[in-house]
Amino acid sequence: MTTFSTTLPGGTWTLGDLTVTRVGYGAMQLAGPGVMGPPADRDGALAVLREAVELGITHVDTAEAYGPHVTNQLIREALHPYPSSLHVVTKVGATRDAAGGWPPARSRDDLRRAVDENLDSLGLDVLDVVNLRMGDATGPQPGSLATELETLVDLQRQGLVRHLGVSNVTREQVAEARAIAPIVCVQNMYNLAVRHDDELVDELAAAGIAYVPFFPLGGFSPLQSAALTAVAERLGSTAMSVALAWLLHRSPNILLIPGTRSVAHLRENVAGAGLALSDADLASLDGIGRADVLAGPR
Ligand SMILES: NC(=O)c1ccc[n+]([C@@H]2O[C@H](COP(=O)([O-])OP(=O)(O)OC[C@H]3O[C@@H](n4cnc5c(N)ncnc54)[C@H](OP(=O)(O)O)[C@@H]3O)[C@@H](O)[C@H]2O)c1
Repeated sequence: MTTFSTTLPGGTWTLGDLTVTRVGYGAMQLAGPGVMGPPADRDGALAVLREAVELGITHVDTAEAYGPHVTNQLIREALHPYPSSLHVVTKVGATRDAAGGWPPARSRDDLRRAVDENLDSLGLDVLDVVNLRMGDATGPQPGSLATELETLVDLQRQGLVRHLGVSNVTREQVAEARAIAPIVCVQNMYNLAVRHDDELVDELAAAGIAYVPFFPLGGFSPLQSAALTAVAERLGSTAMSVALAWLLHRSPNILLIPGTRSVAHLRENVAGAGLALSDADLASLDGIGRADVLAGPR
């Protein structure tokens, strides 16, 4: 196991035998508009990735479906050969269609191909963490994930994958997955305003499993809330910084993978995640989207 210290906010977390900074980076939006095709500013995208590592980030989240292929190719171009401390977490289970949709691709052959493509495009012999992405673009869908996960367990036994996670899943699917194989992380949509997974976050914290919220800043619809703006103004900070700091405060097993195409935003996010929030700040932020306050369908 690699051990190292970090000055990044929140310190580190251990995914299986891999230590990562709790402040990571989500590379999805480095591809072109709609996560299709190349970025308008290729050099800018490479600069963001290099700056993430320069700042001390050791967790980069990606998928072959981003672009498709584009984001992984950018990561390889910017960062290969990878520093030993850097861990690229990828996901399989969806592909892209010509209209930019995200159809599921979860047959045995699809999953094997996706692992091979990730290895090839990232320039790796083994993938550190592979998330099995279930559900669809509207969110998690009920049903068993056993067949799909067992395929990934097979690939893990073949030495192609170090650790497994699940993504876009229900609480029941997380329980099913944990009964099949050790799961090091769960990646679902969660942020200040979307808190359907509150109980799951706590359950995973008790089990020592990371919870990695996607769309931590709201994704394609950036977070907006009067309470959030008020706290940011009181602290002389920004809404995005407060949203990230709140996630780090929310639970020790939460890892951040905010996305940005901007070096300035990246720096702001890394620094902002370390904002100290008072009990009064936390109480007012807590009211924005707590599941028991805002009940509703996902
Ligand atoms: N498992 C899944 O199904 C799934 C689904 C979606 C995403 N993901 C993962 O989650 C990661 C994060 O998602 P995301 O990037 O879509 O959403 P996000 O992190 O919630 O938000 C990214 C958006 O916020 C903006 N932003 C970032 N920092 C900012 C700042 N300091 N000030 C103002 N605006 C800022 C970005 O614009 P700028 O570029 O202008 O900064 C971008 O539009 C992705 O990279 C991906 O790895 C996983």
